[in-house]
Amino acid sequence: MDKLLVHGGTPIHGAITISGSKNASLPILAATLLTEDDVVIRRVPDVSDTNYMVQILTGLGADVERFSGTVRVTATEISDTAPYDIVRRMRASVCMMGPLLARKGRCVVALPGGCVIGDRPIDLHIRGLEALGAKAEVEGGNVILSAPDGLKGATIDLCGENGPTVLGTDNVMMAATLAEGTTTITSAACEPEVVDLADFLNSMGAKISGAGTSTITIEGVGELHGTVHNVIPDRIEAGTFMVAAALAGEGVTLRRVHEGHLVAITGALRKAGHQVHFNDSGDACTVLRGDTPMPAEITTDPYPGYPTDMQAQMTALFATTPGKSKVTDTIFPQRFMHCAELKRMGANIHVADGQAEITGVKRLSGAPVMASDLRASAALVLAALTAEGTTEINRLYHIDRGYEHIDEKLEALGARVERVRV
Ligand code: EPU
Repeated sequence: MDKLLVHGGTPIHGAITISGSKNASLPILAATLLTEDDVVIRRVPDVSDTNYMVQILTGLGADVERFSGTVRVTATEISDTAPYDIVRRMRASVCMMGPLLARKGRCVVALPGGCVIGDRPIDLHIRGLEALGAKAEVEGGNVILSAPDGLKGATIDLCGENGPTVLGTDNVMMAATLAEGTTTITSAACEPEVVDLADFLNSMGAKISGAGTSTITIEGVGELHGTVHNVIPDRIEAGTFMVAAALAGEGVTLRRVHEGHLVAITGALRKAGHQVHFNDSGDACTVLRGDTPMPAEITTDPYPGYPTDMQAQMTALFATTPGKSKVTDTIFPQRFMHCAELKRMGANIHVADGQAEITGVKRLSGAPVMASDLRASAALVLAALTAEGTTEINRLYHIDRGYEHIDEKLEALGARVERVRV
């Protein structure tokens, strides 16, 4: 189990390139099962979640090759069962349900277990697939979906208590590509990763319109074919380095970003007194730490709102921003595990009812801390960059799930970090 030592106090500067999006790659990899043809996906980040997804595809019988960011999948003959020992490692493996059901007419996918960021049900996924004509039953910890007479287009509302569902929208969209007739998803998630999946599916011959809005229409087709696709840049990795630059930077440039995907994050950083400048084509940005950082209030919302996947990092920034800031998570109200660890570093944070109230302190101090989930770990790394002394971040596997070579990228920017293999 690796750990990361961060020796705080060295400003970061320079330029790095942002990797392909983890959360776009995962459903796109799952969607390769919708055709027997060869599919090539480029810019898949080398993180453990995409490795798990490759293992799932291989376990289902697909032929998969992976070389420097490119994954080639040929799913000529596949099984319909994704067992628990794979699914339990990554919750996103639920996005196998849509493609497996559409391709095989039946699928058995283990129910994902608990999740440290809160209760993460899959009722909306099931409801959506049932509306397409599938029968669902739960047996022995598995969801068994079957549609012996094929899937049929329907109008489906995917709004849950906390808004739309990203992977639920993906699942229904993937299943509907091969359904008979037209499917309309209302209250669809609008995230750029959903749009990237729709673009990928359309390049395979699907007929999807409206992705990126709350109404997506899918006209079913008889079959899909092979394609080559480039995954979009990871807006959460970009946002994480933007916050790093606001915290500890002396001018950090991020290449291969998408300005349009970063509007909420850019707005939040500017509100907190920092500068963000994009180039004319909007594919690179430079972040400069402001002379007078200011407290701010942030509330997470589905896209184009402020992303829940960026609230922990902002909490780390506010920990040393003078004044009182507030971070509210409406999507995962229990996602505040990082706060207890930040407090071990000297932060002044009060968490109650899905909200963190942060009173900025002058300086944090390095301490041994425990990563609890992907974005919480990122927040600890950010906090450690300006903390006095050394911070030891344990359970680094959480961060390796979603940040490609984070230690190397930080080193390239001049941070003093060491990965220790334990
Ligand atoms: N929800 C339901 N029922 C469902 C599904 C979701 O009530 O059937 C609720 C959830 O409990 C939550 C809300 O709906 O309150 C939104 O959850 P969503 O389904 O959108 O989450 P997800 O699709 O499982 C993706 C990302 C997460 C990200 C969320 C929200 C991937 C692989 N995962 O998860 O990313 O936090 O959307 O934007 O795309 C991460 O990268 O660290 C991460 C957790």
